[in-house]
Amino acid sequence: MQRTGSQVLVRGATPNDAGELYHLQAAIYRESRWFIGDSPPSPESLTRRLRSTDPKMSLYLIAVCNDEFCGWLELHRLHPSKVRHVAILTLAVGSAWRRRGVAREMLARSYRWGIRVGVGKISLNVRAENRAAVALYQDQGFVLEGCERNHIRLGDRFEDNLIMAKFLSRGDDGVGS
Ligand SMILES: CC(C)(COP(=O)(O)OP(=O)(O)OC[C@H]1O[C@@H](n2cnc3c(N)ncnc32)[C@H](O)[C@@H]1OP(=O)(O)O)[C@@H](O)C(=O)NCCC(=O)NCCS
Repeated sequence: MQRTGSQVLVRGATPNDAGELYHLQAAIYRESRWFIGDSPPSPESLTRRLRSTDPKMSLYLIAVCNDEFCGWLELHRLHPSKVRHVAILTLAVGSAWRRRGVAREMLARSYRWGIRVGVGKISLNVRAENRAAVALYQDQGFVLEGCERNHIRLGDRFEDNLIMAKFLSRGDDGVGS
């Protein structure tokens, strides 16, 4: 954050954030390179999700830079008791704000939440050609758990889907063990 001189605030999302969050997500989906879906959930659907969030099961974070939404992160624990220690991660940063530490900041906060509620493992899917995201996850200690070959169809060619995961430890709570 210091690198930009900009103030970045990471906070929990509220139902009132749905409209602005939708615009951020829609701009990132329009890049057409990072996700599998074609468009984000509608503002109404986002509002419903944010309203019904169980704070022990899901985390929604937004990053705000100079009064603009610049990033978001979601972490959802799986419900069956045998896999409730696992949470699935999604995150993205607006194109104008990349490589300034926004994702790192949101992840640090998500690890603290995970440790507090009992998450032991964070798992995610990432498109194999998404070099920035793969580099971010490797930098954060995620390792490759699997590769679903030719999983994503892009017209006349295919892209692999990677599954990566990180085990949380007390050192990830930001205060050391
Ligand atoms: C991947 C993404 C979330 C990274 O967010 P970010 O805020 O730019 O990442 P940070 O600035 O916190 O970077 C942290 C570290 O990740 C790595 N990294 C991030 N972007 C990188 C890039 N383009 N190339 C190489 N390494 C990169 C670096 O190790 C970086 O540390 P450094 O800047 O000190 O070298 C962002 O590029 C993005 O939103 N992309 C589009 C959406 C997306 O791909 N979401 C993930 C889907 S799985």
